[in-house]
Amino acid sequence: VNDPRIYGIKTKIRVVPDFPKKGIMFQDITTLLLDPKAFQDTIDLFVERYRDMNISVVAGIEARGFIFGSPIALAIGAKFVPLRKPKKLPGETIFEEYELEYGSDRLEMHVEAVNPGDRALVIDDLIATGGTLCAAMNLLERVGAEVVECACVIELPELKGRERLGGKPLCVLVEYR
Ligand code: PRP
Repeated sequence: VNDPRIYGIKTKIRVVPDFPKKGIMFQDITTLLLDPKAFQDTIDLFVERYRDMNISVVAGIEARGFIFGSPIALAIGAKFVPLRKPKKLPGETIFEEYELEYGSDRLEMHVEAVNPGDRALVIDDLIATGGTLCAAMNLLERVGAEVVECACVIELPELKGRERLGGKPLCVLVEYR
């Protein structure tokens, strides 16, 4: 996305060195949320892109994907489905496991929330290695949804997460190099 509003968004994202551990440059979007104009611009840019793409479900990834995904879903008239960390969802779920630097984690989804033929947008705050988005796409595709696109506020291009998405389009607002 190329838009003059992106500069304002970028300046509101705080980069915290060595958090949560040494060597990590943490991309802190809580400072973006403190600025209603920049937060609104972030939502608007995605809404402008997706409102005419026939999206029926916005799937937000815990935790920060919920913050951006919910207002986008409301604005484009799609249902919102949370993709959650283990053991948070009370209904029947399916899960996908993904690798972390040390060990693995999993995402879960309510099976009855998404139907064959649903057109899905997957949203998160950030793509690093792409493992999380990959797991999210698998969940949606397993119940017969079509993942139309993935969207993140921030991409760390050096980690080449985009290459793990199997050619699925990914829309990002800010690249951090
Ligand atoms: C961060 C971020 C993405 C994920 C991206 O979440 O919000 O969900 O990492 O990493 P990947 O592209 O390498 O998979 P985190 O693991 O910090 O979990 P949290 O949102 O629960 O804090």
